[in-house]
Amino acid sequence: MSKRDFLTVTDFTRSELDSLFDLAVRMKRNRSGLRPFGGGSAALVFKKPSLRTRASFDVGVHELGGHPMYITDQEIGLGKRESVYDIAQVLSRFVRLIMIRTFEHSEVEELAAAATVPVVNGLTNSYHPCQIIADLLTVYEHKGHIDGLTISYLGDGNNVAHSWLKAAERYDITLRIGTVAENDPDPEILDHARTHAIGRVEVVREPLAAADGADVLYTDVWASMGQKDRAEENRRRLAAFQINEELLAAAAQDAIVLHCLPANRGEEITDAVMDGPQSRVFDEAENRLHAQKAIMHALLAGFDE
Ligand code: CP
Ligand code: NVA
Repeated sequence: MSKRDFLTVTDFTRSELDSLFDLAVRMKRNRSGLRPFGGGSAALVFKKPSLRTRASFDVGVHELGGHPMYITDQEIGLGKRESVYDIAQVLSRFVRLIMIRTFEHSEVEELAAAATVPVVNGLTNSYHPCQIIADLLTVYEHKGHIDGLTISYLGDGNNVAHSWLKAAERYDITLRIGTVAENDPDPEILDHARTHAIGRVEVVREPLAAADGADVLYTDVWASMGQKDRAEENRRRLAAFQINEELLAAAAQDAIVLHCLPANRGEEITDAVMDGPQSRVFDEAENRLHAQKAIMHALLAGFDE
């Protein structure tokens, strides 16, 4: 079998995703039962800061019987001190899997093409697929299913929104993006999702209409890493899309609220909602661990135990 990478949600088929969630649920019940690393190592390469991704991959690799090696770009100078190709070749001689968080998505594609071991995208400017797998797992746990739900993503049309658009190509959901035109997702990714969605992809300009009847209200920071120069204008443009008690009241009565974190409390989400009874944000954060353990297991040893 040739090596597999996980760079976007659509790298897995629907039936593989279904198996992945079964595996993640089982792994959550029995945290250290499977050891696909068998004493091998994983390189965790970070060009941007992280709490959840770093902690969940570090702990996850350990629980899967491996040694996690945290590497910052300050040390290796990806593409500067040494070419991406050479780094991929060298790391592949030492480790069984590479996780990378960086800016340009093309850099992860280049790394994956050159590495002889699986590469996992731990966030690029374009996508955050591991996040969406953890989010879908959280939705599945709290709603019992994913198909048929309305997911309203409110705020900046960023990497996380893009990965939700990819999820719409695998699940029969209504994905509603509530934002202003200036903060729309990338038009190519949006068009592709509109054409290939199993359910529906909608872009809604009015915040209450965007939240109306939603099963899941989702948001992310208004200015992503590497784009903090846009913070002020995004704050102005996106203020009406803040997830607060008024917007939450427009959603379904049993709606849950998700946020990939880190949050800017008081901007894209209020304390009252984030700490309120419908918030599942910390279950979602925990699920990064279980989801990524299932992803790593799938790439190293397949989707079944
Ligand atoms: N959600 C997420 O990826 O968090 P970190 O940036 O802390 O890893
Ligand atoms: N969109 C955010 C996600 C952080 C997990 C960012 O890229 O900074």
